[in-house]
Amino acid sequence: MTPNSQPRQHSVGQDRVRVDGPLKVTGTAPYAYEQRVENPAYLFALTSDIAKGEVSRIDASAALALPGVLAVLTHENAPRLVPAVKELYILQSPKVWYRNQYVGAVVAETPEIARYAASLVRVDYREEAHDAEFRVEHPEKYRPAFVNGFMRTDTKKGDVEAALSGAEVVLDEVYTTPQENHNPMEAHSMIALWDREALGGAFSLLGERPHLTVYDSTQGASVTRALLASVLGKLPGQVEIISPYVGGAFGSKGYPHAPLLLVTLAAQLVAGRPVKYMLTRQEMFAHVGYRPETHQHIRLGAGRDGTLRAIAHEVTETTGKLREYAEQTASATRVMYAAENRLTSHRLVPLDIGVGTFMRAPGEFPGMFGLETAMDELAEKLGMDPIELRVLNEPDQDPEDDKPFSTRNLVACLREGANIFGWENRPAVAERQEGEWQIGYGVAAATYPNQSQAATPTWARVRYEGGLYVVGIAASDLGTGAWTILGQIAADALDVDVEQVRMDIGSSDLPFATLAGGSTGTFTWGGAVSVACIQFRDKYGKHPPEGAEMRGRHQMPKDANKFSRHAFGAHFAEVAVSRVTGEIRVRRLLGVYAAGRIINPRTANSQLIGGMTMGLSGALHEESVVDPRFGHVVNHSLADYHIAAHADVPDIQARWLEEFDPYYGPQGAKGIGEIGVVGLPAAIGNAIYNATGKRLRGLPFTPDKLL
Ligand code: MOS
Repeated sequence: MTPNSQPRQHSVGQDRVRVDGPLKVTGTAPYAYEQRVENPAYLFALTSDIAKGEVSRIDASAALALPGVLAVLTHENAPRLVPAVKELYILQSPKVWYRNQYVGAVVAETPEIARYAASLVRVDYREEAHDAEFRVEHPEKYRPAFVNGFMRTDTKKGDVEAALSGAEVVLDEVYTTPQENHNPMEAHSMIALWDREALGGAFSLLGERPHLTVYDSTQGASVTRALLASVLGKLPGQVEIISPYVGGAFGSKGYPHAPLLLVTLAAQLVAGRPVKYMLTRQEMFAHVGYRPETHQHIRLGAGRDGTLRAIAHEVTETTGKLREYAEQTASATRVMYAAENRLTSHRLVPLDIGVGTFMRAPGEFPGMFGLETAMDELAEKLGMDPIELRVLNEPDQDPEDDKPFSTRNLVACLREGANIFGWENRPAVAERQEGEWQIGYGVAAATYPNQSQAATPTWARVRYEGGLYVVGIAASDLGTGAWTILGQIAADALDVDVEQVRMDIGSSDLPFATLAGGSTGTFTWGGAVSVACIQFRDKYGKHPPEGAEMRGRHQMPKDANKFSRHAFGAHFAEVAVSRVTGEIRVRRLLGVYAAGRIINPRTANSQLIGGMTMGLSGALHEESVVDPRFGHVVNHSLADYHIAAHADVPDIQARWLEEFDPYYGPQGAKGIGEIGVVGLPAAIGNAIYNATGKRLRGLPFTPDKLL
């Protein structure tokens, strides 16, 4: 091979085991709470007993008198913050926005002392009447300026009302999804350490040392550092975030939340000592975001032959009042099916509840439950196969923005899935029985957009050190495989064996990177890594000197914005429903995806079946029950908030089609982190209908809804 020939592309596309696997199974990968620090102190939080009002008085004297208590943090003694981010501007006033909001914290020598001391702090409130009940016709319902991802709030084309009144077949139904809360195995955890001298005298020279170091469990060290520094009134370089391993996140560790500020402010009171804080499982339901509850009014109008004439998807959903979060629930409906007349809209009902955030495929997950159930219902009304209905209404370009698709292989996914699954064996409605069990098949489509965060610069650095290429980027591995696949991308760009590359990720000291969110990590970070590596080779050739270094920045492919860019897929489910108990058993799940080039089949398979498992979990189990009398999630434990486990689905398979998308990102790859979850509940619900003849229009599908 000559130096100027194409890279070998040996590593990308190969099955590579996780480089962090041995560290994790031997318990030596340090998660945030386990980082070794000298002489740590421990935090226990104080939280509000009311949902609205203010703290009128705090008496911490009994707690402070307890041996081992180091400090009690309240709004009265909290260091001042800059009001840059409402959710992070905590303990700056006595105001209470939602139940369980932080009103302070105790720092002590041991976790036990901190917890006991917290029980001794007396907090009095001036309570106001609160509103934590979701009502679709709410007097304060409003139209947000945009929805999550800076997508348009409403879209409209043609005349939906006229098309619906002229349509031969009309479907008009309401679909609902509940609030859900993220529950990664590793609860949010942090260790914060302030440099005493940085906070000390009026003048101090600290050399290279940061003022604040935080070991955090985060989806993005760079973004967390930038936001935390801005709220603290520091320069980014004065704050350091270290986060090499993350035990799951699902969106809840994307943007930082109040816990990070709580531990940061508490640590400031005991500067020089590291303060450790890991949220309890109950606290996970109060402080780190949630997926809002949605109400979706969907209307479809079609001709007798199944051709769609009108699609309307109107969403009402909740938001907390402290900071707006608008789930982009109807966004996927904008790209799925052809129809000349169409509209989507989002309205918010503001409540005295905590702050929502993105949770695994925000928007696409609840919205595609609605749309893909509606499509199944329409197929039933038309007497059509639901796959054929989708194929008939396949658009030849983006039906709303009229751009061509960069690649779109939904039909191929449906066809391939039907073959593998044995769709031709689908029973008629309520036809197949095995004893008490009724058996059914269901299908639904999946999609996930290119959420390119190209406006945020992402950089990578290559350095030649001791015969290894050390590639640094502030990327984050949530258990997804970033440690592993970035090395593969680097190896190919450098044209070396993957064993000659060492990745360095998970620290804000590394070149700035976007957070791990929106299924963008691989193509965005991978873009920066390959640019840096290719430029390194161009400059230094095959025999670089020790210490040679190069930086490179991710760029979206030329002309990317001329295309509508989305991944697609098809989900198939077989269920058995007990006629006696209403129990639903998912026997088989199959997902077939057209998601661009697959960088590593092993980690990709885990991503896809992981997403499908979360879809199953949302279909059958997950629901946060907010008690309007108090305003908090009452089932705030894993005993009461059920999550799918291995035994819930015996047979789960992901497949993918060969696809290379030249406009999505530099590798021809698309994002695969979230598409597995999208539409999956609709496939299960459609299978339940096929089994029983009962249509379920609200998640989760608990047995009581079938009896
Ligand atoms: Mo994930 S919900 O895109 O952070």
